[in-house]
Amino acid sequence: MPVHIVGWGKYVPERILTNDDLSRMVDTSDEWIVSRTGIRERRVASAEETTASMAVQAARRALEVAGLRPAQVELIIVATMTPDYVFPSTACLVQDALGASHAAAFDIGAGCSGFVYGLSVASNMIRSGAYANALVIGSETMSRVLDWTDRETCVLFGDGAGAVLLQAKDIEGGVLASMLGADGSGSEVLFIPAGGSRLPTSSETVAERLHYVTMKGREVYRFAVHAVPDATRSVLERAGQDVADVDMIIPHQANQRIMDASAKVLGISVDKIYSNLSAYGNTSAASIPIALCEAVERGLIQRDHLIVCVGFGGGLTWAAAAIRWTVRLPSEPISGWEALWYRVQYRYASFRSSMRRLLRAILAWWIKE
Ligand code: COA
Repeated sequence: MPVHIVGWGKYVPERILTNDDLSRMVDTSDEWIVSRTGIRERRVASAEETTASMAVQAARRALEVAGLRPAQVELIIVATMTPDYVFPSTACLVQDALGASHAAAFDIGAGCSGFVYGLSVASNMIRSGAYANALVIGSETMSRVLDWTDRETCVLFGDGAGAVLLQAKDIEGGVLASMLGADGSGSEVLFIPAGGSRLPTSSETVAERLHYVTMKGREVYRFAVHAVPDATRSVLERAGQDVADVDMIIPHQANQRIMDASAKVLGISVDKIYSNLSAYGNTSAASIPIALCEAVERGLIQRDHLIVCVGFGGGLTWAAAAIRWTVRLPSEPISGWEALWYRVQYRYASFRSSMRRLLRAILAWWIKE
C-alpha cells in the first residue's frame, strides 16, 4: 500500500537572535554571516523548552491536520542529535506527552540527515504492513550544544521542530523511493567530542569545552555540494523519475551557497530549491520538516507535485526521499469544536501520565513496605 504524508506541523521558539545580536557576542558581523551563509536570524529555545517539548508542539499540529487522535498513532520516530537525555529516547517522552498510548517509539541519530532517515524507515515499516501510520519528527535544541564563544559554529545553527504523519493509503503516489548513505571516516568532521562512552563527562572535558559542536566547516562544505546533487539524482533514479520533472526540492537548510551550488550541478532553477534558511539558520534534523511544512502552508506544493527531500550532515550521512504528493493539501483550519476536543485529549494525556507515575510510586512504596 502506498505511504503518504497526511499531516504536517512545525514549531519554532518565539525568541529571535539576529546577526546583529551575535555581533555583540562574538567577533562577527551581519555582512559576514549573510554573505557566507545566507542566514539573517535564528530562533532560540526558552529555558523551559526542550527537544521533546518542541517535538510535541509540531506533532500535535500534524495530528490535527491529519484528523487523527493521539491514541491512533502506531509509531513515533524522533530524529535528533540534541535529545532531552542520553536515554531514554526523546520519542518516548513525546509518546507520553501526546498520549499516544498505542505507539512504539524510538530515536534516530543520523545528524542533520535524521529526518529523511526517519521518513525512509517509517515508510518502509508501514509498507511492510507492520504499522498503519507513523509520526516522524525532527526536533533540535542546538542552542544547548553550541559554544557561544566560537564564531565559526554559533552563527550557523538554530532551534525548532517539524513533524509529518505518514499513513498507508490506497492512492497512487506518496513516498516513491528513498536512499540513505553514510561515511563514518568523516565522523570527526562534525561532532561533539565528549559526553559519550569514548570521552565521558568529567571536569576536564567541561573545562576544555568538549561538549560543544566542533566542525571543520570547509570540509563539510566540500562534502555537501556533492552529497545533495548525488543523493537527489540517486533517489530519482530509484523512483523512475527525472530531475527535470521535479517541482520542488526541500534540502537540509545549512548554507545558501550549498543550495545554489546544488541547483547549478543539477541544472535546475534555484527557485525550485526551497529556502527558509535566512529566518531559522540550520536547525539540523528539524530543518527539512520545518521547510516542508512551510512550503505546503505557502501553497508552493500542489497536488501531483514531485518533491525531493534531501539531507546531509554529521556521521557523515546523507539521505533523500522522492515523494509524489497525491493526497489532499491544506484544508480549512480545524473548527473550534475539533480544537477543543484535541485540547481535552492533550489534558487527558497529561492526567494519564501523572496517574501512571503516581501508580508507579505507590507500587514501589508498597513493595518496599
Ligand atoms: N564571522 C567572521 N569571520 C569568521 C566567522 C564569523 N562568524 N567564522 C569564520 N570566520 C573567519 C575565519 O576565521 C577565517 O578567517 P582567516 O581567513 O583570518 O583565517 C575567514 O572567516 C574565512 O573562513 P572560512 O572557513 O574560509 O570561510 P568559508 O567561506 O569557508 O565559510 C562556513 C565558512 C562555515 C560558512 C562554510 O565553510 C560552510 O558553510 N561550511 C558548511 C558548514 C555546515 O553547513 N555545517 C553544518 C552541516 S549539517
